[in-house]
Amino acid sequence: MSLLKEKLAAILPEQVSSIKQFVAENGSKVVSEVTLAQAYGGMRGVKGLVCDTSEVPPQKGLIIRGFELSQLTDKLPEEILFLLLTGVLPSPAELKDLQNDLKEREEVPEYVWNVIDSMPESSHPMTYFNTAILVMQNESKFAKKYEEGINKSDYWVYTLEDALDIIAKVPAIAAYIYRKKFNKGARIESNKNFDWGKNYVHMLGFEDKEDKFANLMRLYLTVHTDHEGGNVSAFSAGTINSALSDLYYSLSGGLNGLAGPLHGLANQECLGWVLETMESFGGVPTEEQIEKMTWDTLNAGQVIPGYGHAVLRVTDPRFTAFHNFGKAHCANDPVFQTVDRVFKVVPEVLKQVEKIQNPWPNVDAGSGSLLYHFGLKEFSYYTVLFSVSRSIGIAAQSVIARAYGLPITRPKSLPTSKFKDLVSK
Ligand SMILES: CC(C)(COP(=O)(O)OP(=O)(O)OC[C@H]1O[C@@H](n2cnc3c(N)ncnc32)[C@H](O)[C@@H]1OP(=O)(O)O)[C@@H](O)C(=O)NCCC(=O)NCCS
Repeated sequence: MSLLKEKLAAILPEQVSSIKQFVAENGSKVVSEVTLAQAYGGMRGVKGLVCDTSEVPPQKGLIIRGFELSQLTDKLPEEILFLLLTGVLPSPAELKDLQNDLKEREEVPEYVWNVIDSMPESSHPMTYFNTAILVMQNESKFAKKYEEGINKSDYWVYTLEDALDIIAKVPAIAAYIYRKKFNKGARIESNKNFDWGKNYVHMLGFEDKEDKFANLMRLYLTVHTDHEGGNVSAFSAGTINSALSDLYYSLSGGLNGLAGPLHGLANQECLGWVLETMESFGGVPTEEQIEKMTWDTLNAGQVIPGYGHAVLRVTDPRFTAFHNFGKAHCANDPVFQTVDRVFKVVPEVLKQVEKIQNPWPNVDAGSGSLLYHFGLKEFSYYTVLFSVSRSIGIAAQSVIARAYGLPITRPKSLPTSKFKDLVSK
């Protein structure tokens, strides 16, 4: 048994029984109420979901198992996976054991490559990626065991098996999609000596002798893992998971949500907006030029990608992590300089638009300029990078949900006529 599984087997029963007792003793207490505006407003702020892997306080931003993001930016994504699942960072031995376990699971079935090869070349990279995950459902250990008949208390064990199988394979799949879609040449085999993030850079095909891109990739993959349970991808995946659909189904479904421009696709949109601004003004624009471009975009009825958030009310600490990396490693890059200047101007403009709740940058505002700096310039690919990382968070949330035995998700909807009745009473 792997050290991760051993640890989970040791801690989960106690956690599960304490949650059962907590709910039994307090089940009737009111923790949230729903206004009409919330019912018609995407349920913003309604406290009706449980997520123990991470939380996003509006004034602080991402906290993973009690650690603020700034405390985790030097950690490997594999360490974050361990932290999300167990609540503690791994010891060196536990980290090595997890990395070895992932190495043993990384071989991708041949039919996945064939499916990718048979898709229309015009498919978006996210369509390739989510299709590849879905087609691998054939491998689900949870689905097989469920069919054979297993005890509910073992659901998490086989969901963990699926989680580790998927996490081990996604970098190779994502890297191949990049190479195929953008004509970069043949598939590159994994290097068994590299960690998860560095190996991804290697399989994408980038020369990276001093590990500079690998360091960005490790940060990128750490930062995007998890963002509590109510965001579109985590919530959708969790809902699908709650029907006991296996992780291949639920992850693919959740990541289809990440492919939306108001969610993960904003990183591709954001770099597009920055480059367009640079092109309009022939280089790094002045603050006045950025202000004009911002108003032009708003007046055209479009959003400024990378700004605003449904929950956050401060600068996203994930943006800050990338911004700090950029200041340290790409300070002279004109695209990064533009992003830096946009950060000075856009919030001041958005503050003047009354309806906008949060004028500050989110995770997607700066990451693209760093990828661009290292030569990953095909920005329609950026949401795949986000997805590789988010696979970790969604997988961890699914294992925990199975361990807790959370029931099928089923909030109540009402027609407008019923809401009118309720309000008139
Ligand atoms: C993230 C986002 C979807 C949150 O939406 P939300 O919770 O409804 O945000 P708000 O309550 O502040 O929205 C109120 C209004 O301000 C608008 N608004 C919010 N952020 C905006 C932005 N960056 N640019 C222009 N308008 C914005 C909304 O579209 C909405 O307008 P509407 O009432 O005409 O529909 C929104 O801020 C957005 O579209 N941002 C740009 C896309 C992006 O970066 N997404 C990645 C998020 S991590």
